[in-house]
Amino acid sequence: MALPDSFQQRMSLPAVCALMSLVSGSELVAEACCEGVIGALPRANVRDIEGFEHWLQQFRERLNRQADSHRHACVAPLAVNLATRIPDDELRANLELCGKYGVEITISATGDPTDLARQVHDWGGLIWHDVVSMRFAKKAIAAGVDCLTCVGAGGGGHSGNIGHLVLVPRIREIFDGTLLMDGSISTGAAIRAAEVLGADLAYMGTRFIATCEAAVDLAYHQMLVECTSSDLMFTGKVARVPANWLIRSTERVGLDPGNLPLPLGKGMRHDHQPAGVKPWKNLWSAGHGIDLIDDTPLVAELVDPLREEYSRAFDLPAF
Ligand SMILES: Cc1cc2nc3c(=O)[nH]c(=O)nc-3n(C[C@H](O)[C@H](O)[C@H](O)COP(=O)(O)O)c2cc1C
Repeated sequence: MALPDSFQQRMSLPAVCALMSLVSGSELVAEACCEGVIGALPRANVRDIEGFEHWLQQFRERLNRQADSHRHACVAPLAVNLATRIPDDELRANLELCGKYGVEITISATGDPTDLARQVHDWGGLIWHDVVSMRFAKKAIAAGVDCLTCVGAGGGGHSGNIGHLVLVPRIREIFDGTLLMDGSISTGAAIRAAEVLGADLAYMGTRFIATCEAAVDLAYHQMLVECTSSDLMFTGKVARVPANWLIRSTERVGLDPGNLPLPLGKGMRHDHQPAGVKPWKNLWSAGHGIDLIDDTPLVAELVDPLREEYSRAFDLPAF
């Protein structure tokens, strides 16, 4: 396994609370880190560099308080995503703040991460990059990233479409850096399964949306508890790039899920949606892991049983 030792010592579970725009507010990410699970902050949740600095400063203070008041606590590393295509001076300013406030991991999801990887390494950080196939994994390895996040089928957000059982072991064959399994993970047993397949960490989104600290509407929580994977649709009609959406969230804003408006023209705008309807804001996403979610606990109340399930998964008798 290829997780830096310095990370392992500060984690209570081999897991990451995934990056989720709008959902991953400061409460969720800070609580995850304080429970020994790597937390990922979406940079786009704050508009300007001043707001970003204020945010990072608050995080650092919160994580330092946790480390000081609980001497044996695991306070896990913090990750921030940065776009691969931002102007150099803007990138430098963002990376400088990451260095100043102890962000150790930069996440990039799309595009060619070559330049970003070089600049992150110059500054002493690590870069993680999302991949959905062997083709993209090879490109990211050539770009020099430290970690590949293997986005498999059935995940929340813009999911992949190759099953994890194949994607993770195939990518592990060609990469000895850190590997993450991403998508549909809701239990401690699934975290262990990620390791068995060759990953170092499990990347979990939907399971963390269903926690008290997630910055979401109560109706979103209710859907996560009441709905199953048959209440999801995988479509590009909502936000152009195909993603898994809760059908009930489309009905809630008055859309007909069988007859969704079609995106117009090119680009990433969502102006095909009626006024006031916005993907992620009131059209909500979830992954197939929803089938194993029936509560909305505090992060601490979630991580404890995940740890127990994870440990129990080591005790399974051999066939
Ligand atoms: C509501 C929501 C918002 C997301 N936002 C982002 C994002 O802004 N950037 C990104 O790279 N991935 C985003 N993702 C994908 C997650 O980082 C992660 O890959 C996914 O949630 C894992 O699958 P799971 O939800 O089945 O655990 C989002 C996922 C969800 C459910």
